[in-house]
Amino acid sequence: MKTITQLVMLVVFLLGLSAQPLWAKASLDQGDAYTYANYHQVRVKHVYLDLSVDFSSKSLNGFAELSLNWLSDSLEPIILDTRDLIIHRVIVQKPSGDWQKVKFSLAKRDDVLGAKLTINSPFKTEKIRVYYNSTEKASGLQWLNPEQTAGKKQPFMFSQNQAIHARSWIPIQDTPSVRVTYNARIKTDKNLLAVMSANNSPDTKRDGDYYFSMPQAIPAYLIAIGVGDLEFKAMSHQTGIYAEADILEAAAAEFDDTQAMIDASEKLYGAYRWGRYDLLILPPSFPFGGMENPRLSFITPTVIAGDKSLVNLIAHELAHSWSGNLVTNATWRDLWLNEGFTSYVENRIMEEVFGRDRAIMEQALDAQNLNTEIIELDKGDTRLFIDLKGRDPDDAFSGVPYTKGQLFLIYLETKFGRQKFDQFVLDYFNQYAFESITTSDFVIYLNKELINKYPGVVNAEEINEWVYQSGLPVTTPKPQSNAFTL
Ligand code: BES
Ligand code: ZN
Repeated sequence: MKTITQLVMLVVFLLGLSAQPLWAKASLDQGDAYTYANYHQVRVKHVYLDLSVDFSSKSLNGFAELSLNWLSDSLEPIILDTRDLIIHRVIVQKPSGDWQKVKFSLAKRDDVLGAKLTINSPFKTEKIRVYYNSTEKASGLQWLNPEQTAGKKQPFMFSQNQAIHARSWIPIQDTPSVRVTYNARIKTDKNLLAVMSANNSPDTKRDGDYYFSMPQAIPAYLIAIGVGDLEFKAMSHQTGIYAEADILEAAAAEFDDTQAMIDASEKLYGAYRWGRYDLLILPPSFPFGGMENPRLSFITPTVIAGDKSLVNLIAHELAHSWSGNLVTNATWRDLWLNEGFTSYVENRIMEEVFGRDRAIMEQALDAQNLNTEIIELDKGDTRLFIDLKGRDPDDAFSGVPYTKGQLFLIYLETKFGRQKFDQFVLDYFNQYAFESITTSDFVIYLNKELINKYPGVVNAEEINEWVYQSGLPVTTPKPQSNAFTL
């Protein structure tokens, strides 16, 4: 039963809401339910990782130094996400520059969220260092024996942080709402090469001691590492492949349209802002087709078909350089902003590079798969703005954020025409570059910059149905490909 005071407070709160102009509501950040971090009070700005890669114990060992920005006036504990980490000690930097040991506590492990790490600094420190090691249990790392690799001689290790696995190898504010720049020093066996989602240089000396820098602010789920018997082959001035020697040539041949894909994306959506774009080809146990780690997409070897039939995967991961990595979903409920936009951009790239027929064929296949999948899904899980209900975000994964999201954008494109819609998407990427936004931020921007700008084309209820309701609206486009007619 609600008390009178609670009811009064609720009414006051609701009145407060309605008194605000529409654009201000978006900044009412509901927060990310998948982090323990108090990122509205104190926010990590930069991370320095100093880690040794130990294949015998399957662990990373060293420290993470976090540079902080205090948003609250009061002194607060610094709360970080961890999962299955062993914390050795925590030190904080004094204004004098000296370091001081401080108390910390690691809470009991939650199956979904991991263990909350609370650090008590006696003052608003600007830097903390957490000395730790990851363990064999790290959900974000895969450790492979030499037998599990193509070359069979050296071990291999790689990370997969999305959605909430960064915390299993870095004590961090593991939410896509917080963006950090990072540097790293990675020490490993001198026969192995380490690469990261950062500035990999094609002529790095292989000496077991590697330095990285990522000067652009990215969320923790995009910090990535791979270590193995890797070689490099350039495909163009801007693109290349990191892979084991056995598959290097085949990968470079299969993906040699990568530069053309970058050129096509830049023509549509503005400059590629990340410098180089390389691909890391992983062993077959990589759990996805691809992962859009910035500057270095991680790719499964199983798409090297010999006939470029699966290269839409590269278009997809590259497209994330705009949708996802530049403009990022603020929480995992907003995943469709990453994956729906990316599926749409992917298909536009495919059209530019391989022609309209192939693009429509891929649309038709995806739409068909979505129709089958949607019958099996819980109704609530067919919404773009999904209610995760406390489940592990990995468990709520489906074709809905991808293909329903893409169909929504194709619907808008068809209604407004390419000229207006392409300009809208380009402006959207520039407006929110290097920011993390929610579904409601997007809807407000969409209403302002498209729906209300060109009245009478699409109404607010239609947008509401696409974004917040389950199933597929009657207005859903039905891509038809003649590739499947006999
Ligand atoms: N970012 C995703 C992979 C992902 C999503 C990992 C959500 C964890 C949580 C990646 O860009 C992706 O979508 N990969 C697809 C590619 C496909 C749609 C072309 C895959 O691996 O199947
Ligand atoms: Zn994706």
